[in-house]
Amino acid sequence: MRLFSFFKQELAIDLGTANTLIIQDGEVVVDQPSIVAIDRRTDETIAVGDRAMQMHGKTHDKIKTVRPLKDGVIADFKAAENMIQGMIKILGNKKRLFSHLKIVICIPSGITEVEKRAVFDSADHVDSNETYLIYEPMAAALGIGLDVEEPEGNMIIDIGGGTTEIAVIALSGIVCDQSIRIAGDEFTQDIVDFMKREHNILIGERTAEQIKINVGSALSELDNPPEDYPVNGRDLMTGVPKQILVSYKEIASALDKSISKVEDAILKALELTPPELASDIYKRGIFLTGGGALIRGLAKRISLKTKLNVHIAEDPLRAVVKGTSIALQNTDKFSFLMDRSSVNI
Ligand SMILES: Nc1ncnc2c1ncn2[C@@H]1O[C@H](COP(=O)(O)OP(=O)(O)OP(=O)(O)O)[C@@H](O)[C@H]1O
Ligand SMILES: [Mg+2]
Repeated sequence: MRLFSFFKQELAIDLGTANTLIIQDGEVVVDQPSIVAIDRRTDETIAVGDRAMQMHGKTHDKIKTVRPLKDGVIADFKAAENMIQGMIKILGNKKRLFSHLKIVICIPSGITEVEKRAVFDSADHVDSNETYLIYEPMAAALGIGLDVEEPEGNMIIDIGGGTTEIAVIALSGIVCDQSIRIAGDEFTQDIVDFMKREHNILIGERTAEQIKINVGSALSELDNPPEDYPVNGRDLMTGVPKQILVSYKEIASALDKSISKVEDAILKALELTPPELASDIYKRGIFLTGGGALIRGLAKRISLKTKLNVHIAEDPLRAVVKGTSIALQNTDKFSFLMDRSSVNI
């Protein structure tokens, strides 16, 4: 038996627009940004994850950085494969040592059949022998610890980097869902635009993300407000670097429009929910996951808008990969897992 388990490698992969996470043997072994650095001349991948992120925005004419996923789906296949391969290498294992690689990988619920096929193909190229796909909201629900097989409705909202997915789950299926391409990346871009418009200062994507994390807010009044945050950028009038202080109230106004779009999608999903399940959601509330769930005041804002209780998952950035790992252990039991035969092209 021991010998067999040595030859079997099982990975649960959350290939996210912003972050890629891998669980092996119940433990998170990779948690890195979804980015690769490429040598422009040779097209070779020179770094993935954290190392590539350090180069992002600081590259020159010989190196470029690429984020292989956009809006939740693979936009650059070669880069995505190289990234997965690079991340698997981070595990310190060379695949050829293993005779059998089994992967469960999650995908957004709004994905097309062609895009599904592409994810299977990418898994083939990293020499996976057994590949299953799972929809992200289903994985998130499992990761939060919900019993998705019960005849009980649960609403999950996963606000990632590329997409916000809102789904109602019951009896091992997604009853209704809304997937919009407004999430963390868009919030970051809102902050870049705001700083340009209101302060005449040009900032990079990484700086904008830091602002979001440090003083990001969905409400203009918070019970526990963060301190103003110093921001360095380039003054558009003088062209010289300068520093200004930014408050959470300003960022609340910068994010307001995008967050309203997320709210609209939630209301639409609630409207589409069959009445019996709506009453379950009324009793149980809504569950929030994904990095976007960490924005200050967001749960409260959604709660005020929907008049429902909103719970933030315990570890919102890891709920999806945790659920994917639970699915990996139950591939023979969970009917909602997709293998290649379930793709219709
Ligand atoms: N404390 C925080 N406050 C606000 N936003 C945060 C925080 N921490 C992370 N984020 C944002 O969360 C996003 C990443 O979340 P997550 O890892 O769930 O996305 P993903 O799974 O990679 O994307 P997707 O599911 O859309 O493919 C990024 O946009 C990041 O800036
Ligand atoms: Mg995600």
